[in-house]
Amino acid sequence: MNAQSVIPAVDAMPLPAPYWLLKTLLIVTLILHLIAMNMMLGGVFMAFAAKIKSNKSEHFKKLFGDLSKKIPTLVAATVTLGVAPLLFLQVIYGQFFYTSSVLMGWFWFSVVVILIFAYYGFYYVAIKQETPSVKWIFFFSGILILLIGFFLSNNMTLMLEPSKWLAMYKKNPDGVNLNFSHAPLIPRYLHFLIAASAVGGLFTAILGVIKWDSDREYSHFLINAGSKWFWVSTLLQIVIGFVFLFSLPKDKTMLFMGGNAVATISFVVGLLGAVATIYFAVKVPKKSDPRKSVVWTASVTGLIIILMILGRDVLRNEYLKLYFKPENFVVSTQWTVMILFLILFIAGIALWLLMMKKYFSAKQTANEAD
Ligand code: HEM
Repeated sequence: MNAQSVIPAVDAMPLPAPYWLLKTLLIVTLILHLIAMNMMLGGVFMAFAAKIKSNKSEHFKKLFGDLSKKIPTLVAATVTLGVAPLLFLQVIYGQFFYTSSVLMGWFWFSVVVILIFAYYGFYYVAIKQETPSVKWIFFFSGILILLIGFFLSNNMTLMLEPSKWLAMYKKNPDGVNLNFSHAPLIPRYLHFLIAASAVGGLFTAILGVIKWDSDREYSHFLINAGSKWFWVSTLLQIVIGFVFLFSLPKDKTMLFMGGNAVATISFVVGLLGAVATIYFAVKVPKKSDPRKSVVWTASVTGLIIILMILGRDVLRNEYLKLYFKPENFVVSTQWTVMILFLILFIAGIALWLLMMKKYFSAKQTANEAD
C-alpha cells in the first residue's frame, strides 16, 4: 500500500477563502503565537535562573518576582494566539494534521490537561511569591510547558511523513505514538527551546528599557543580565541551528543553500542576523545608555523570527509536495464572512496592542508608587 492511499481525502467542503489568504493568515497568526510562546517560555527559563540566584542579590529576587508575575498572562496570550493558526492549519492541512493527531492521540489530547496544571502552577507562584515550595512548583510547571512544546513538534513533524503512518498504526493502533524515528525531531525541538531562551533574555532587557526612567540601577541590571542571556543562547543557537539543518534529509538541507529562494534568504539572513544581534548584545555592558542596542537587537530578532517561520513553511511544503496539491482545492469564498473576520482580526490585534501598552504602563506606575 502506498502512502497516498492512507491519506484521507480532501474535505468535501470547499475552502471558504482563497488558499493564499488562508496561508498568509496561518503564517501571520503563527508568528504571533510563537512570539508570545517565546516570551512565555523564555521568561520561565530566565525567571528560574533568577530564582536560583535570588540569595545572591536583591536584583535577582526582584527579577524573579517581575517575570513570574507575568507568566500567567503570557501563557494566556500563547494559548489564545495558538487557536488561530490551529484553525488555519486544520483548514489547509487537515488531511495530514488530523491523521498525525490520531496516531499520537493520547499525547495530543493530554496537552489540554497538562496546560491546565502548568497554568495553575504559574498562577500559584505569581500569587504566593514567598512560599518555600514556589521554586519547585515553578520548575514543575516549566517542565509541563516543555512537554507541550515537545508534543507539538512531534505532531508537526509526524504530519509531514504519510509514508510512515500505516506501519506506525499497525505497530501501535492505540494513539500512543511519538515521532522519535524522525532524525530532525530533537534538533528541531531544541532549536525552538533555545530561540525561546534567547527571547526570554531579550524580554528581560526590554523590561529594563521600560524601567529606565523609574529605576535606573535596576534597569541597567535587567538590560545587562537579559542581554548576556540573549547572546549566550544565540551563540548556542548557531550550533543547534546547524545541527538541525544537517539532520534534515539532504534534499531538504539544500533548500536552505540555494535550492529555494525563501528558505535560503531565511537561512542566510537568519545567520547574519544572529551574528549581528550577538554583536549588539555583547556591547551592552560597555554602554552608559544601552537602550538603542536593545532596540536594534529586538528589531533584528523580530525579523529573524519572521524569516525562520517562512523557511519552516517552505520545508513543510517540500516534505508534502508529493501529496499536497493546493491547486486542487475547491474554493468558494464567503467574502462577507471573510471581510468581517479580517476587520475583527485587525481590531483584535489593535486591542491586544492597546492592552499590552496599558498592562506595562500600569505595572510601571505601580512600581513607581512602591
Ligand atoms: C502553552 C504551551 C505551548 C508551547 C510551548 C507551544 C510551542 C509551539 C512550538 C514549539 C511550535 C512549533 C512546533 C514545530 O514546528 O516543531 C508550535 C506550533 C504550533 N502551536 Fe503552539 N505551543 C503551545 C501551546 C499551543 C496551544 C494551546 C495551541 C492551540 C490552541 C497551539 C497551536 C499551535 C499550532 C497550530 C502550531 C503549528 C502551526 C503550523 O504548523 O503552521 N500551541 N507551538
